[in-house]
Amino acid sequence: MGKDVIVACDFSSKEAVLSFLDKFTDCKPFVKIGMELYYAEGPEIVREIKARGHKIFLDLKLHDIPNTVKKAMSVLRNLDVDITNLHAAGTTAMMKAALEGLTRPDGTRPLLIAVTQLTSTDQESMERDLMIHAPIDEVVMHYAETARNAGLDGIVCSPLESGKVHDRCGKDFLTVTPGVRFADGDVGDQKRVMTPAAAKAIGSDYIVVGRPITAAADPVAAYKRCVAEFCD
Ligand code: C5P
Repeated sequence: MGKDVIVACDFSSKEAVLSFLDKFTDCKPFVKIGMELYYAEGPEIVREIKARGHKIFLDLKLHDIPNTVKKAMSVLRNLDVDITNLHAAGTTAMMKAALEGLTRPDGTRPLLIAVTQLTSTDQESMERDLMIHAPIDEVVMHYAETARNAGLDGIVCSPLESGKVHDRCGKDFLTVTPGVRFADGDVGDQKRVMTPAAAKAIGSDYIVVGRPITAAADPVAAYKRCVAEFCD
């Protein structure tokens, strides 16, 4: 898969997400479905959006013992999503088990990417609550390498980290990056942001964009602007 813009569909109901997607009459954006929508509507919402012709990143961030994650992934593989994810903190055994569960009998599987340290975790909370004392940038890179060595396809990271992750883990290791804003747009609650064009220049493979598209006066125009800046 090549460079693409993934629209974070952070809606709380089927009605809200489908009426948003109805606006896209001449294109089918790659859609991210997160916990809120999935827990509200269940797997049927994934099937319905897939049936409309969208690619799907199912963002459920699994983290449990290897056997449980393997079984959960073997259920998710039947939803025919394109990308799904887990926490690298579950360790190598969990990530390998997840890959096994996700792989269909014919050998195909969705792409599997890892969350490293959440961007809501900072150095202080990591040291205090998790008793991890290395510099947070090093921790993120170590998790990325551990994910790559377990056989995963990439990580979720800040676009600011994409270049470094590619240097350490190889250019084929995917970087999927939220925290994207237009140069003239609202930053909102995101702290470290980058424009789609800058994310392209630094080498992100996918950008995940939510409110700059979902809350825009003209979401289709905002989506197309993102695609023009990032993909073309
Ligand atoms: O609306 P906005 O563009 O900020 O949405 C970004 C999306 O990416 C949200 O779904 C958010 O949960 C997700 N995300 C993020 N930062 C991370 C991981 C995921 O913003 N570190």
